Amino acid sequence: MNFYSITFSPTGGTQRVADILSHTLAASVEAVDLTDRSRDFSSLSFSSSDVCLVSVPSYGGRVPQPAAQRLAQIQGGGARAILVCVYGNRAYEDTLVELQDLLTQAGFSCVAGVAAVAEHSILRKFAAGRPNQADEATLTAFGQEIGRRLEEGTLPQPLTLPGNRPYRPFGVIPMHPKAGKSCQGCGLCAQTCPVGAIPVDQPTQVDEKACISCMRCVSVCPRHSRSVNPLVLSAASLKLKKACTQPKACELFL
Ligand SMILES: Cc1cc2nc3c(=O)[nH]c(=O)nc-3n(C[C@H](O)[C@H](O)[C@H](O)COP(=O)(O)O)c2cc1C
Repeated sequence: MNFYSITFSPTGGTQRVADILSHTLAASVEAVDLTDRSRDFSSLSFSSSDVCLVSVPSYGGRVPQPAAQRLAQIQGGGARAILVCVYGNRAYEDTLVELQDLLTQAGFSCVAGVAAVAEHSILRKFAAGRPNQADEATLTAFGQEIGRRLEEGTLPQPLTLPGNRPYRPFGVIPMHPKAGKSCQGCGLCAQTCPVGAIPVDQPTQVDEKACISCMRCVSVCPRHSRSVNPLVLSAASLKLKKACTQPKACELFL
């Protein structure tokens, strides 16, 4: 069995959850970075002896569009897929069922699902510090249970996951980070933007139509130059306070 961890993680929270699970599931892990816009995902194909952990953040209760487009290009070849959705303690709504549909369409066999919480990548005070030690213990136990069931061949077919079809309409309040005066134009944000929304020769600019508000540019900037308008942030924070405050637990679906 070859084990792959296929992840879309602009600011690292989804990656942390994926790493905890994958280290529990396999001694050797091949990583596939779905934020790499230079990669040709149509050349990626798997077979029925492979196991793929596929991890995405929830954006507005849905799979982020570039992740969906890139996953749709992969040839699943009957590989077993463990689906992981990571969210910022508000809700993940239809993310797991959308991911299941995308992967089934791409030829994967979906065998398990996990929903986990990580720090909210826009409003960082929500779910701050998560995944924490307790989450790590829970996710490790989930990984062990999935591993045991994979070996026994007792994972469910078809897999039932929470969420609605048709999915909720995609609706995320756009928040486009801007570069401040301390920007020295190093271009790291432009190089690592998952959708190429920042021109390499003019990194203080942003193509607002292309930007997916993922906050990669904010998280990689060595001078902390990029930020979202604080008024927009505090309005969003007030709006989401009630829904995001009560800590939510990680969930396993088998
Ligand atoms: C554009 C955008 C939309 C988001 N929508 C939701 C959401 O609907 N529900 C939620 O709980 N968290 C939401 N979040 C928070 C992320 O799902 C969460 O922070 C996740 O860990 C980010 O993954 P990353 O650290 O791998 O980038 C959103 C974050 C972004 C950037």
